Amino acid sequence: MPTADDFRVRQEPFYQPQDKEIELYEAAYAARLPVMLKGPTGCGKSRFVEHMAWKLGKPLITVACNEDMTAADLVGRFLLDAGGTRWQDGPLTLAARLGAICYLDEIVEARQDTLVVIHPLTDHRRTLPLDKKGELVAAHPDFQLVISYNPGYQSLMKDLKQSTKQRFAAFQFDYPDSTLETAIVCSESGIAADLAGRLVELAQVGRRLKGHGLDEGISTRLIVYAARLIGQGTAPADACRMAMVRPITDDPDIIDSLDHAIGAIFG
Ligand SMILES: Nc1ncnc2c1ncn2[C@@H]1O[C@H](COP(=O)(O)OP(=O)(O)OP(=O)(O)O)[C@@H](O)[C@H]1O
Ligand SMILES: [Mg+2]
Repeated sequence: MPTADDFRVRQEPFYQPQDKEIELYEAAYAARLPVMLKGPTGCGKSRFVEHMAWKLGKPLITVACNEDMTAADLVGRFLLDAGGTRWQDGPLTLAARLGAICYLDEIVEARQDTLVVIHPLTDHRRTLPLDKKGELVAAHPDFQLVISYNPGYQSLMKDLKQSTKQRFAAFQFDYPDSTLETAIVCSESGIAADLAGRLVELAQVGRRLKGHGLDEGISTRLIVYAARLIGQGTAPADACRMAMVRPITDDPDIIDSLDHAIGAIFG
């Protein structure tokens, strides 16, 4: 059986705070409140959880949710092998037993009937019933559940029920202001600050097009991609086209106007 040590975050993941989120998360963890991280793609949600798990010295078990995920994928199942049937804990059960932080990424992708399994773990009960096995797991005192979702992708069909939402304390993330974002890009790529600043400027042009032809702005993640390409010797304009413009849209007019902005910023 895996141990808590298998899931330790050994090296400090670099995280640039935007506000008081580190202190507030520490308070939420101390109170053992389940936490929800909301915000657009590539703005630092996963990095924040990794950083907090490292800072608190707790193991981290991450699950990428998808619509085919069943309750058994989270909780566990009986497996057939040569010796007969054997129970195997799913990641949620394992986290509850080991006292890990369990991070359910993109939670809205999971179906509602799958999600109800987290309910008894996220209220005063702090238990997880394994119906098939006939066991009630009492969560380890260190266990905490963290979920993330991107409200931008939300539709009426894909939203969390209030009875799920109202089990969490929530953090609202967004792309950082340009000074902080420039610092992040420098630290993640090693490129010079003035160049990083120009990439951030381009991202901000893209973000202004959100709702005017773009569903999502250009993420911090994509700025870091462009910066890493530049670090490999790619010309900045090529890096921007490849990492910050082509991935986000197929709309020729938007591509044109962003390419134009690249010309203006790097020309
Ligand atoms: N505050 C930050 N500190 C350090 N790095 C950051 C920060 N914000 C974003 N990044 C950089 O952006 C990248 C993407 O961040 P992350 O993977 O945490 O996004 P996310 O919000 O989890 O996105 P998704 O919803 O798509 O999973 C990170 O790998 C890191 O390079
Ligand atoms: Mg993530």
